[in-house]
Amino acid sequence: MSALEELYEEIAACQRCEIAKYRNRVVPGEGAEDADIMFIGEAPGWHEDQQGRPFVGPAGQYLDELLASIDLERRQVYIANVIKCRPPANRDPLPAEVHNCHGWLERQIEIIRPRVIVTLGRYSMAMFFPGKSIGKIHGTAQKRDDVVYYAMYHPAAALHQQSLRQAIEEDMRKIPLLLARTESVTEAKPEPQQLSML
Ligand code: URA
Repeated sequence: MSALEELYEEIAACQRCEIAKYRNRVVPGEGAEDADIMFIGEAPGWHEDQQGRPFVGPAGQYLDELLASIDLERRQVYIANVIKCRPPANRDPLPAEVHNCHGWLERQIEIIRPRVIVTLGRYSMAMFFPGKSIGKIHGTAQKRDDVVYYAMYHPAAALHQQSLRQAIEEDMRKIPLLLARTESVTEAKPEPQQLSML
């Protein structure tokens, strides 16, 4: 069993949050164990909870289109979420849920060791760009410890708002250059980093 498969088994047994009781399927994440780029969304929705796979509903179809626009397929990237269980009625994740789930995401990142981490939406952005506003930093990159973090709007938000749609599509188009030139992104000065929200 691969390191990721072992991790998935542990995640599937997790009962740290109340919402674990209501899930149909846990949604750990999926993609290439050696992916150069990892996309991190917010939380599973109804479709993801049914299938146990991230981004398979309308937002996922749009994410697939965005990936295709830069000649990437799902199997070449890794896709995960901040939390692995669907919050009831698709409410926002609670701080305690983000906190409880954080170790799983950290272990995914350790196993995959992506060169670029793309945050999709506010919850994911808040973990890696604490205190920042998505309206200001989307489409910008910051490097820390040799990993480039890149913030984008959430595909679900962009699906329903034309102005965000244009922004997310433009931001996606910058990714190939970012991947090709990770070494030229300057390392950020040490400052309060991950998880200020916890
Ligand atoms: N939205 C997310 O943030 N993640 C999913 O997996 C699906 C929709």
